Amino acid sequence: ILGHFYQRDEIIKHADFVGDSFMLAQAAKDHPEAEAFVFCGVHFMAETADILSTDQQSVILPNLAAGCSMADMATIDQVEEAWEQITGALETTEGDKAEVIPVTYMNSSAAIKAFCGRNGGIVCTSSNAATVLDWAFERGKRVIFFPDQHLGRNTAKTMGITEDQMPLWRPYLPLGGLTPQQLQDAKVILWNGFCSVHKRFTVAQIDKARTDYPNAQVIVHPECPAPVVEAADGVGSTEYIRKAIEGGKPGDVFAVGTEINLVNRLQAQHPDMTIFCLDPVVCPCSTMYRIHPAYLAWVLEALVEGQTLNQISVDPAVATDAEVALERMLAARP
Ligand code: 13P
Ligand code: SF4
Repeated sequence: ILGHFYQRDEIIKHADFVGDSFMLAQAAKDHPEAEAFVFCGVHFMAETADILSTDQQSVILPNLAAGCSMADMATIDQVEEAWEQITGALETTEGDKAEVIPVTYMNSSAAIKAFCGRNGGIVCTSSNAATVLDWAFERGKRVIFFPDQHLGRNTAKTMGITEDQMPLWRPYLPLGGLTPQQLQDAKVILWNGFCSVHKRFTVAQIDKARTDYPNAQVIVHPECPAPVVEAADGVGSTEYIRKAIEGGKPGDVFAVGTEINLVNRLQAQHPDMTIFCLDPVVCPCSTMYRIHPAYLAWVLEALVEGQTLNQISVDPAVATDAEVALERMLAARP
């Protein structure tokens, strides 16, 4: 039983392994002895586990409605259409690097990961995005980054890439709403996707946290908008956030910009510190929350009786190409 950090405690207490999306992908690859994985996370994570595990292992998602609204913001048809338009609009300039390298965030369908594998691209997670962009720039002059504009922008900024070198591709507009010159000048073409949980965090919330607790350390996830990331003291994946708090001392105050189940669990694990969510009225990620303990019990009871329910099986042709991009990602360690 694999559990993402954003799962509720009633699920986490049953998990054999808890982690961020990079760690859970690695865990699926590292346990060939497991007969099956019950993935307590969202659909794209279960697809990744299916691709990285052996053909004899099955991957089960306790509730098939546990998707990710951000991943749904880029469909394979839109991505292929964008690729055709972008590669058609770009002039071929001198040098042996590719004109554009596709990079997809883990939070995307297996079909988009396969697209990246086929086209010299790679997958990243929030824990290795900078390493992955370095990998891409060794091979290409520019990158198209799917689907989270915020992770793409925040990571590119740390590499000295300026806003005007990161145009936003809007999939419903001709040429993404951009000019050929903007594409030519781009270093990172950002897809117009976002996480509805992390986009709720604001600089005003950070200002309030610092007023209420002058010694507060503000840590946020890189799916937050750039002004929030810039106003924070630390930015990183869910595992980064967990480790930062683990390294704290009694009396420390952490104001955190990420999903509420993780924040509340960290506070419960560290009662000698003050740990709170930046957003006072935040809801859990509604799709992560669809993994209800009753669904977990249902698929486990069936498994014991020899029945595999809610199996996630990626088409073998898609899986082969997606694995290429995922293996490149696993080599780019956080
Ligand atoms: P990480 O697990 O990579 O931190 O990502 C958070 C997330 O949004 C998962 O959906
Ligand atoms: Fe998707 Fe955001 Fe939920 Fe993660 S937290 S699963 S990115 S909607």
